[in-house]
Amino acid sequence: MIIYLFEIIILCLYPSDYMILRRMVHTKCRGGRYLFSDVERLVFSDNQVPWSAKFVGYNPPEYNSKAILNKPWADPAIDDPSFKPKWNELDGDVNRKSHTGSYSISDGRPLNPEGRTGIRGRGVLGKWGPNHAADPIVTRWKVEDGVKQLKNSKPILQFCAIQRRDCGQWALPGGMVDPNEQVSQTLRREFLEEALNSLEASKDQSKKDEDMIKRFFQNGVVIYKGYVDDPRNTDNAWMETVAINFHDEDGKSVGKFDLKAGDDAQGVQWMDVDRNLDLYASHSNFIQTAAEKLNAHW
Ligand code: BGC
Repeated sequence: MIIYLFEIIILCLYPSDYMILRRMVHTKCRGGRYLFSDVERLVFSDNQVPWSAKFVGYNPPEYNSKAILNKPWADPAIDDPSFKPKWNELDGDVNRKSHTGSYSISDGRPLNPEGRTGIRGRGVLGKWGPNHAADPIVTRWKVEDGVKQLKNSKPILQFCAIQRRDCGQWALPGGMVDPNEQVSQTLRREFLEEALNSLEASKDQSKKDEDMIKRFFQNGVVIYKGYVDDPRNTDNAWMETVAINFHDEDGKSVGKFDLKAGDDAQGVQWMDVDRNLDLYASHSNFIQTAAEKLNAHW
C-alpha cells in the first residue's frame, strides 16, 4: 500500500521519472513488418512480453539482414564457428555490457532484457546483444527580439533536431559508439557530422567548430542511460543509449550557430519543445526529462 501511494505521488509530481521507475513495456519493436524486410513480427499482448511470463509455443520468425554480413563493424553470424563472443563483458574493443545489468543467454544467444519482440535473430543491427549509441540533447531558449518566449508561463526550450535519412523521422543527432570509442567522443562526432556537416566543411571551419564543440560539450547532464524502445530491436539484439543534455543558457555559443545537415541527416533545425513532439524511438521521453530539469514548458 505504501509503495502504491509512493508511485501515485511520483506519477503526479514527476511523470517522466515515473516512466523510468515503471519501465513501460516496449511497443516500437513489436507488431508489423520488420524494417527493410518482408518478415512479420509475431503479435502478442503486453503481459506476454516479459520472458518470465508463460507463453506456450512462442516461436517467432528469424530475421538476419544480409546487408550487414561481412561488414567490418558487424558481428559474424551467430553459428559461425570462429565467433566466440564474451557476453556481458568488454570483449576486446566491443562493449558487450548492458547498461541495464546482466542479460541472460539462451541457446547461445543473448536475450533482450525488456522481453519478447516477436522476432528472432539480429535483424539489421550489427551486434548480437546490446548495440550502444549516444545522443546529444543540445538546447537553448527560444528568444525573439531579445525576449525569452513563454507558453503557459514557462520559457520555451528549443533543441537541435535532425531528420533521419533512413526513415524520415525527426530525432536527436545521435549515433553508434564505435569500437574503443568514449561516449563523449561519439557525442561530439555525431553532432559535428549531422548538425554542422563537418564532413563537407573546409578545414578551417571544421577546426573552429571542433574547438567550440569541445568546450561546449564539457558540461553535460545525463538525462538517460539504458535500453531504448527502437524499431530495430529483436529478441537477440537491441539498442541502448546514453542521452546527455548540453544547454546553452545565454544562446551565445552553439545557440547562435548556423545548423547544416550532413551525413545520416537530411534536415536539421532548432525545434520547439512541446508534449506533442513525435520523435524517433524514445527521443521524446529524453526531451521531456531535459525540459523538466530546466523548468521549461512541456
Ligand atoms: C540513433 C540514436 C538512437 C539509438 C536508439 C541510434 O541509431 O542514432 O539517436 O537513440 O539508435 O534508438
